[in-house]
Amino acid sequence: MFYLITLMLYINFIDDWSDFGFRIRKLFQNDIPFIHTIGNFNRGRMVKWILSNETVNKFAQDIDKAILPKETFVNLIVYMQNFSITMKDSDICISRITYNSEVLDVNKFRPCRRDPHCEHCIRSDPSVAYSLSHRLLNLQLRLGLKRCYVKSVEEDEALFDKLCAQMYRETVYIARRGFFARDLFLEHIALCATAGYEEFYRRHWFQKATNWLTKNGCMSEFRNFNINRTKELIKYAGNDRKMKERFVRIKCELLNIECDEHATDVLLIVLAHAIRHAARFMNKV
Ligand SMILES: *[C@@H]1O[C@H](CO)[C@@H](O)[C@H](O)[C@H]1NC(C)=O
Ligand SMILES: *[C@@H]1O[C@H](CO)[C@@H](O)[C@H](O)[C@H]1NC(C)=O
Ligand SMILES: *[C@@H]1O[C@H](CO)[C@@H](O)[C@H](O)[C@H]1NC(C)=O
Repeated sequence: MFYLITLMLYINFIDDWSDFGFRIRKLFQNDIPFIHTIGNFNRGRMVKWILSNETVNKFAQDIDKAILPKETFVNLIVYMQNFSITMKDSDICISRITYNSEVLDVNKFRPCRRDPHCEHCIRSDPSVAYSLSHRLLNLQLRLGLKRCYVKSVEEDEALFDKLCAQMYRETVYIARRGFFARDLFLEHIALCATAGYEEFYRRHWFQKATNWLTKNGCMSEFRNFNINRTKELIKYAGNDRKMKERFVRIKCELLNIECDEHATDVLLIVLAHAIRHAARFMNKV
């Protein structure tokens, strides 16, 4: 089931750049290595980073105190190009994973094919919100799908801990501020829970997320989040009338749909992991 869900999630990223779709499809041809993106349960690996002053962005302290205004956080999401990886970079870098050779021995890590642009995207700060989760996603797929490392296995794992720690801080922040960014909240949990970080397995979070599911098996983003984001996007479009009209159209669609495909897919992954966790620990009782 996990494979199917993951497939849906990443197929959303397909755009029409030359052979981009082909490369993405090739990535999913052999789904056996996918199992290696699922890590063993672990606890405490993030501790070093949770209270650290070395943060990946200058908002971390306000995020920890939950005083960063929600609308500021929404703006940070809109201005992803201010951070180290954009959606487009992320898509391109995911598709380039195909260029690494096939995995012959899953127990053997090899260096990933040199790719200075993607290495820079994955390893550079500052990052916040989706730029954090997409750095992690790129790292996770390289280590899991191709058993290859960007810097070294140790350094990649240390970066993994650092990114999930920052994602954890944001997840707690979003929860404390009334779960105002549902899709991002779920994305952070889905990625780090897949990697096994037990801190992300919180009964209250799972219950909350389950409540967002409608009778039709769908969910949508928090309404005020969509309103604020669209306002900011329209500002961002400036004098570009075409772009502005596009954002207005998207806004009308978003505010009326019951099914946000991406959020629903990520919710299914989160719930699958809640089950994985329960199945693993229930027989201990
Ligand atoms: C972190 O920063 C705070 C405030 O700037 C300071 O009081 C504290 O000693 C620092 N902690 C470490 C471990 O550097
Ligand atoms: C993004 O960067 C631009 C240019 O440096 C800056 O004017 C803007 O305030 C930044 N926005 C956010 C939300 O960081
Ligand atoms: C949306 O913006 C309003 C007004 O700035 C603010 O009060 C509210 O907290 C924001 N909500 C979200 C979810 O961004």
